[in-house]
Amino acid sequence: MGRAVAELFAREGASLVLTDISGSRLTDSVAAITPLLRTSAKLTAQRADITQAGEAAAMVAAGHAAIGQVDIAVNIVGGIKAKVLF
Ligand SMILES: NC(=O)c1ccc[n+]([C@@H]2O[C@H](COP(=O)([O-])OP(=O)(O)OC[C@H]3O[C@@H](n4cnc5c(N)ncnc54)[C@H](O)[C@@H]3O)[C@@H](O)[C@H]2O)c1
Repeated sequence: MGRAVAELFAREGASLVLTDISGSRLTDSVAAITPLLRTSAKLTAQRADITQAGEAAAMVAAGHAAIGQVDIAVNIVGGIKAKVLF
């Protein structure tokens, strides 16, 4: 579902910061979404487990550094029960 949301934002011209706990899923998402980006849009990706505050913060910092201001955050992880998401 997260990839579908990212694809929609890409088609609308947004720059994107992608993350996933799975490096291979993240690589697949980058490959699927990159062709959809508008000319001026940027995409960056960093693997992170967003139940880990440090990893989530590092991913957000990397996103800021790569694309600048982040206006919308979409958090759609699966398989998480009774854990805090950062
Ligand atoms: N698919 C649906 O139709 C649907 C409908 C309503 C609600 N939801 C809910 O939306 C959420 C996502 O569903 P989905 O179908 O996209 O699941 P999915 O398993 O296809 O995708 C979830 C993604 O989250 C990633 N992920 C898991 N743990 C993570 C972590 N700790 N840090 C970072 N990334 C992590 C996984 O690697 C995976 O790529 C679930 O909570 C699900 O219950 C899904």
